[in-house]
Amino acid sequence: MTSSENSVNVDAVILVGGKGTRLRPLTVNTPKPMLPTAGYPFLSHLLARIQAAGIKHVVLGTSFKAEVFEAYFGDGSEMGLEIEYVVEDKPLGTGGGIRNVYEKLRHDTAIVFNGDVLSGADLGQILETHRTKEADLTMHLVRVENPRAFGCVPTDADGRVNAFLEKTEDPPTDQINAGCYVFNKQLIADIPAGRVVSVERETFPQLLAEGKRVFGHVDTSYWRDMGTPDDFVRGSADLVRGIAYSPLLEGKTGEALIDASAGVRDGVILVGGTVVGRGTEIGAGCRLDNTVVFDGVTIEPGASIENSIISSGARIGANARVSGCVIGEGAHVGARCELNAGMRVFPGVVIPDGGIRFSSDQ
Ligand code: GDD
Ligand code: MG
Repeated sequence: MTSSENSVNVDAVILVGGKGTRLRPLTVNTPKPMLPTAGYPFLSHLLARIQAAGIKHVVLGTSFKAEVFEAYFGDGSEMGLEIEYVVEDKPLGTGGGIRNVYEKLRHDTAIVFNGDVLSGADLGQILETHRTKEADLTMHLVRVENPRAFGCVPTDADGRVNAFLEKTEDPPTDQINAGCYVFNKQLIADIPAGRVVSVERETFPQLLAEGKRVFGHVDTSYWRDMGTPDDFVRGSADLVRGIAYSPLLEGKTGEALIDASAGVRDGVILVGGTVVGRGTEIGAGCRLDNTVVFDGVTIEPGASIENSIISSGARIGANARVSGCVIGEGAHVGARCELNAGMRVFPGVVIPDGGIRFSSDQ
């Protein structure tokens, strides 16, 4: 059976109800999966992968800023998909969010995604593992350097999952939950309805205790959780450079991705997978490395920015230096300012010219 034959009778479910706390202030007004990433809202890249895998019906489990998703993607027909939306009035957690879309499912199998993961996994292969193992539940697993930040998932020689340990201090393996699961529909029906449920802390341990057939699909594809500013910048840059694959960027990858409506003056250097959004203006002699610039930003001459995210409508003054920062919507960073090391400038904040420096002179 080919990959796409595996996908025909499958619903896709995407969890997009989280608050994106670690990405504040970017997520004050915009849900994390809608943040501009390599020229598109992040979720567009995942939807394009789902479409390319031959899956048509997608249900978004929304809560925080629910309306933003439907306003952008509509019924999904422009992407060749059929997208439906289910809203949690109060966030129900990952398990509650999955249970909440149950009535919309059309098939016996659902592939469920965390909506903030950038991955190159072959979805057809994950479905194939689910089928050949005759599993009740199959989890995509990857190996990472810091398994403590994720769900740790040890497996036996046959790939059967032994335990699920969410964010544990002393993980027994570096193999973690990559945030993509294939569920037999009945398991979703069995999740308690109408209350908060965590799949990671409640549902998965319970299914294992009941002896259900839970298998891991391990691969070495590109993988990154986009939940922190550093990961968000790296993920976007990797998409721009083609290190992470998106069907939307085929033939467009390179050192930088510049929207056609942006104004980039002479002598500007844009490298390291930098992306420049609509209507943004970049003055002469600026250097941007590994940076995400949203729409309508003004960067004045001689500014240097690296490893940072600059939100819509922000202004970066002449000869400013910004490294490893998040600049909120409409904020102004004055000329010659030096911002560094994980600083977050909140929306609308105005820092005067020379107002923050690392150097001792102004
Ligand atoms: N609908 C809905 N309702 N979605 C939610 C809710 C909710 O109440 N809470 C979180 N989500 C969504 C988020 O929007 C995100 O897409 C996904 O569920 C996972 O939430 P995160 O908050 O990003 O979790 P995490 O990154 O700390 O951990 C999860 O992902 C890791 C892989 O990236 C866990 O599943 C870990 O086990 C896993 O390793
Ligand atoms: Mg996450």
